[in-house]
Amino acid sequence: MDNLRIAFIGTGSMGSAVLDGLLAAGHPKSLISATTKTEAKAKALRDRGISALAGETSPDANALMAGDADLIVIGVKPYQIVDVLTELKGEIGKNAVVISMAAGIQLSTMAAVLDENPNIIRTMPNTPALVGKGVTGLAAASSASQDAIAAASALFEAVGSVLVIPESQIDALSAVSGSGPAWVYYIIEQWEKVAIAQGFSEQDAKLLVRQTLAGSVELLESTGEEPSELRRKVTSPGGTTERIIATMQQADLHGIFAQSLNAAVARAREIANS
Ligand SMILES: NC(=O)c1ccc[n+]([C@@H]2O[C@H](COP(=O)([O-])OP(=O)(O)OC[C@H]3O[C@@H](n4cnc5c(N)ncnc54)[C@H](OP(=O)(O)O)[C@@H]3O)[C@@H](O)[C@H]2O)c1
Repeated sequence: MDNLRIAFIGTGSMGSAVLDGLLAAGHPKSLISATTKTEAKAKALRDRGISALAGETSPDANALMAGDADLIVIGVKPYQIVDVLTELKGEIGKNAVVISMAAGIQLSTMAAVLDENPNIIRTMPNTPALVGKGVTGLAAASSASQDAIAAASALFEAVGSVLVIPESQIDALSAVSGSGPAWVYYIIEQWEKVAIAQGFSEQDAKLLVRQTLAGSVELLESTGEEPSELRRKVTSPGGTTERIIATMQQADLHGIFAQSLNAAVARAREIANS
């Protein structure tokens, strides 16, 4: 991994998160290249010592930067994937590992363009990758080599954990962890609102909720106990916590979670078929 040349084609939020994770893990800058659309963004990368070109000033930027790369990480928007792969077709090494981060773009769509490249991989990272705590789902084309899958996994391990899955599970993974940060933030929003409604200042409500959340996750990790067990420990029979959990159960919180997940999976299938 340490001696592989890695090209980032489209280096926005997600591309930069992975690039920064690689740098933090000690990958040599000299082996990393990147492209963006705008020259200002490419210059910002060059100012950090990364070899970078922008499409608006160098029309062949993507082919030039990906040409000799061992791993090519595509971080453009989903609707741009086919155009970008078409630019790369015939310009990249036959054994290059081509990794898309685009939501909803199937391996077969990529393989139809890159018909001479067996090592095609689809991933679904999430935004905690920005702080090195992401979780990435990774699905590989059946033609991809084990070495290609291992190299792609190692790349995303620089920004968190990796789960290698069949492509048939990627929509569900996308709903659970790709969209996961939105679930968590929405719950925090509701929790803070109800605390404020009890008379706490916004600042105090934020402290109460966010510190409780961070502390509870740390306790979960450090004890290794199941959440149901930790919950039982703070729920005295007939007490106030028991009333909270009973109210959530009556409102069928589990059912709301299941419905939300199913709706996201259904939407992913609609997008893939549109
Ligand atoms: N953000 C998430 O939570 C998330 C989660 C999972 C997957 N993803 C996937 O990650 C991909 C990128 O998302 P993002 O949020 O990182 O988007 P973003 O911040 O908008 O980044 C897109 C990048 O692509 C560059 N770009 C645009 N057109 C280009 C072209 N023709 N050639 C080369 N570079 C080009 C942009 O350059 P400029 O900056 O110069 O415009 C920018 O660097 C998407 O496919 C998305 O589905 C995102």
